[in-house]
Amino acid sequence: MAWKPNPPAPSYNMFNEPFPVAEVDERLLFDLSCSRIIGPVITLAQELNLFKLLDAAPQTIEEAAKQLKISPKIAEAFIAVLAAFGLLERQNDGRLALTKVAKTYMIPDSPFFYTGFCPPHEWYLDLLRMKLIGGAQPPMPMAVAMNQHKIEVVQSFIERMHAMILPTAADLAKQPVFGQISHLLDVGGGSGALTIAIAAFNPQIQCTVMDLKPVCEIARKNIAKYGLEKQISTVARDMFEDMWPEESDAILFSNVFHDWDLEHCYLLAQRAFDALKSGGKVLLHEMPLNDTKDGPLTVACLSAILLMYEKGKQYTLKEIEEILSSVGLIDFQSIPTHTYYHLISAKKP
Ligand SMILES: C[S@@+](CC[C@H](N)C(=O)[O-])C[C@H]1O[C@@H](n2cnc3c(N)ncnc32)[C@H](O)[C@@H]1O
Repeated sequence: MAWKPNPPAPSYNMFNEPFPVAEVDERLLFDLSCSRIIGPVITLAQELNLFKLLDAAPQTIEEAAKQLKISPKIAEAFIAVLAAFGLLERQNDGRLALTKVAKTYMIPDSPFFYTGFCPPHEWYLDLLRMKLIGGAQPPMPMAVAMNQHKIEVVQSFIERMHAMILPTAADLAKQPVFGQISHLLDVGGGSGALTIAIAAFNPQIQCTVMDLKPVCEIARKNIAKYGLEKQISTVARDMFEDMWPEESDAILFSNVFHDWDLEHCYLLAQRAFDALKSGGKVLLHEMPLNDTKDGPLTVACLSAILLMYEKGKQYTLKEIEEILSSVGLIDFQSIPTHTYYHLISAKKP
């Protein structure tokens, strides 16, 4: 039989939508890519003697961090993964204890002691070890060092982010809040994927993607692909150093807070408050960790992965509310949108 080329990939408007809408979500694949961190976290928890410590007496995250001489942030990330995976459980007093599985298999003097969760020099294992030694600095900074990377690194990071965020975009863009906004500023907007979807589904809206210069160039090409140049502009700014445009009635941060430590998050919240009109909204598109910091497993894994690349973590809704309300924002709300994502909003009085 003669070879025939594959038919062209179906174009997005075959579903009668102005933007690609996936028929199924990407949870299966996202779960798989995040789960790679579980083996390295268990291996290092064994090396740190975390299981032995919790077997002797249940501990809070802060107590365990102190005993193991690691930062509370690293302890939180490790404990969240171990608890979500089923090796630790939270007691009524908030302390973490071993589950039966951990008691049986994770203690070196148990006859059933189990090891070998990843190869000795697995990539994540080596990077996490560097993080344990290096403390506050991520061993391989990505988004937090965007203005220092070579253009090829910027392009490849933004391409990866684009592929990861695209399946979420339509579910975000269809949220009713975007139907009531006249001008949206997307801070750290990356490839522009979310703004493009929001503009495509909400013809009344005008949008600005704000990011560093080389990223804005990528976003502009994507905006042009969808023919949305009249609805979306870009502005090259450093979000910490430069002035923000002030004409917006909503400011979106998607996966931006999770890159940064609390100090930078407070600064971003303050800058958003200052740039908004009265009645304007701050919108966060994030995957929150449970308030009890023990799941969902994939979100806990992502938080541990961020230790290696960024300065932040997956914040809980309670932590995000504290950041936003501390600068004077009110009416905190959160709606689940897609897989683990929430759209979180708060208003300037
Ligand atoms: C994790 S990506 C999120 C991209 C997009 N919002 C999304 O959800 O796909 C973080 C974004 O923050 C941008 N960024 C990092 N530092 C920045 C800075 N100082 N000023 C403006 N943007 C910055 C990066 O270029 C990147 O596009």
